Amino acid sequence: MKGIRITGQIPLDGEVRIQGSKNAALPVMAAALLNRGTTVLKACPRITDVFLMEKILRGLGAGTRWQGDSLEISACQISGCQVERELGEKMRSSIVLLGSLLGRCKEAVLPFPGGCVIGARPIDLHLRALEALGAEFAEQDGRLYGRTGKMKGGTILFPKSSVGATENAVLAAVCGEGTSVIRGCSREPEVGWLCRFLNQAGGRISGIGTSCLVIQGVPKLHDTVFTIPPDRIAAGTYVCASAVTRGKGILIEPPVKEMKALLRAYEKIGGQYVYNSGKLFLCSQKASRPIQWLETQIYPGFPTDLQSIFLAVLACAEGDSRIKECIFEDRFKVVPQLRRMGAHIEVEEQTARVRGGTLRGTRVKAEELRGGAALVIAGLGAQGETYVENREFMERGYEDICRDLNCLGARVRKD
Ligand code: UD1
Repeated sequence: MKGIRITGQIPLDGEVRIQGSKNAALPVMAAALLNRGTTVLKACPRITDVFLMEKILRGLGAGTRWQGDSLEISACQISGCQVERELGEKMRSSIVLLGSLLGRCKEAVLPFPGGCVIGARPIDLHLRALEALGAEFAEQDGRLYGRTGKMKGGTILFPKSSVGATENAVLAAVCGEGTSVIRGCSREPEVGWLCRFLNQAGGRISGIGTSCLVIQGVPKLHDTVFTIPPDRIAAGTYVCASAVTRGKGILIEPPVKEMKALLRAYEKIGGQYVYNSGKLFLCSQKASRPIQWLETQIYPGFPTDLQSIFLAVLACAEGDSRIKECIFEDRFKVVPQLRRMGAHIEVEEQTARVRGGTLRGTRVKAEELRGGAALVIAGLGAQGETYVENREFMERGYEDICRDLNCLGARVRKD
């Protein structure tokens, strides 16, 4: 059994450098297909979702090579536009290949995407946006077939903010003909990083960081070296690790500007921090207060990816808290496992009521990436030893959560 063994209630006191962002790296890797040359991604996180995307790109005929934490992607020639079913099904974010393959090959064949089990996760917004840019779709044998004569400029109005659908629209439009205007787009930082990458490679995208992106199509992209930004969700996870142990901790180069909602919640529970010269100094000795009301929202709101992790923190607080999940309809999957550790959590529709208390270490099972991380955080706050099964889920998004937590002074090991 591949798991993680955690000794609880050791106050953290150490420092850790924050890895590159998973959700920034994956769409940028897809974007590298649009450059008929070589793209170098520095600080690329060595996580299994990135390795899976690398495998998919190789399957499409691209060359890839790692040098330390730099990933080189050569897409001078592409041999096909069909994403292997077995690989695509494993990872929902493979859907961003739709936009880049249509942009590059005018054709794309993808299996319906898999990934973390956190709700229905439809792709209607992706398809409507790409149709507005001239693509057509058909479904056959569980596969999605897309094609286009030429991606052309168009106007898209998203009725609902979607990170992946915005990224797909940007990827399809950047090398298309004419100008595209995308309204109602996601303002998540990762969309901004994708646009900055594309601009660095010769794209012409304006409105970055706003809900309206304007893209003037360019005939081609050129080679570039781009640094993947630090991961705001990994950084947030380690803030929660400090909080739950009532310890300290220093995060090196965390993306604090992208972490405002999390840091506000951390302050509300009694955490204190100072940011100075690229380091975030955490002081969590008093981080034991509950929160009356916290809800996940699109950026700059509290991120859904930190909801279950913060739930673990509140399960160890002194008093009653409530968290509402407003992005995904089924993101409380971790609750039964937290209950096994003694957590008092009731879920009613989209809201979890938590009565804080003392957790006890026991054997629990990760079922998805962030829920698994939540169990590790709960284990850090619990009495005794916790064993979290299915470490492979954590490896999808954390380079080495054990290494990082041990750097912060925890006692955690792979087992
Ligand atoms: C991305 C992130 C994921 C994060 C999520 C929300 C990546 C690789 N993943 O996922 O970690 O939790 O943003 O911040 O970056 N929706 C539709 N129709 C669609 C697409 C989405 O109804 O066609 C709905 C979803 O079911 C969900 C909401 O829109 O309720 C937001 O989803 P979206 O922003 O698309 O998330 P992802 O891009 O899948």
